[in-house]
Amino acid sequence: MAMVSMRQLLDEAAAGGYGVGAFNVNNMEQIQAIMEAARETSSPVIIQASRGARSYTNDRFLYHLMEAAVELYPEIPVALHQDHGNSPATCISAIEQGFTSVMMDGSLLDDGKTPADFAYNIQVTREVVEHAHAVGVTVEGELGTLGGIEDGVGSGEIHLTDPDQAVEFVEQTGIDALAVAIGTSHGAYKFSRKPDGKVLAMNLIQEIHEKLPTTHLVMHGSSSVPKELIDIINEYGGEIRPTWGVPVEEIQLGIRHGVRKINVDTDSRLAITGAIRKAMAEDPGEFDPRSYLKPARAAMQQVIAQRMTQFGQAGHAGDYEPRSLTEMRDFYAGATA
Ligand code: 13P
Repeated sequence: MAMVSMRQLLDEAAAGGYGVGAFNVNNMEQIQAIMEAARETSSPVIIQASRGARSYTNDRFLYHLMEAAVELYPEIPVALHQDHGNSPATCISAIEQGFTSVMMDGSLLDDGKTPADFAYNIQVTREVVEHAHAVGVTVEGELGTLGGIEDGVGSGEIHLTDPDQAVEFVEQTGIDALAVAIGTSHGAYKFSRKPDGKVLAMNLIQEIHEKLPTTHLVMHGSSSVPKELIDIINEYGGEIRPTWGVPVEEIQLGIRHGVRKINVDTDSRLAITGAIRKAMAEDPGEFDPRSYLKPARAAMQQVIAQRMTQFGQAGHAGDYEPRSLTEMRDFYAGATA
């Protein structure tokens, strides 16, 4: 199976009433962990790479690792997505490198830090949509800003998405999916206590979905930051302060109201780091990297498989025939004709 368009994965998820996890990767072991979890649970999946990940991995390594993934797991529909593209140039280079989906994050200027104005966001996102849809590639935009900083990206300030502005944004840009800011942030330190309705604006999701029922909503910063993963890190010499993530039941509530893509990176990082610390502490004389990378990969697989089941994508890998990017190009051309 070739890599598929994210739009198709999300359309299918909307029809089936489930969400699809978008998991970040930087290396072979993370791609393997996700693909094994997808096979274990029979899930379609989105694999995403930030700009930092692309430069760490090198685009050609990343692309060929993904080619290996689709060759070795032919039963799994998988989309390759650029996470937080900071400019049209970044998104266009991702498309040239074989990504089947891109995020143009025009909520920030191209420094990836300074909040941008609405007109700028519309202009750069529209530019990417025109380019991407002409070759069948999916586009995610973002309105409002998340908290936290990921791979150097983020203003650190939260600006919640305005539902009326969201309607105008989608109409003006033609995006396939909209990342909404509802109070989440990237990274491990999201909340200092279990978040309730005052800190997590789930009502906004409901409101935006009512106004934009056919736009796929995206929740960024959606790691749940499980205490048991933090405990493993701290038990073996780590120093992670008490913290809370996004409860899975809040994500499930979002999925009932139009959330189709759920971004998760931190939970994988925590699982990997805990497993590596444990393996090294338990056998300090060992120096074969496989002795800690194997348990790290298995720990990531376990948390990803759990999320796939919780988001509802499990069991849906074989539901449909993937459409080629050429078919998707024709679909977009028809929609705008
Ligand atoms: P987490 O840091 O909560 O995993 O969020 C990742 C993310 O949103 C990637 O874009």
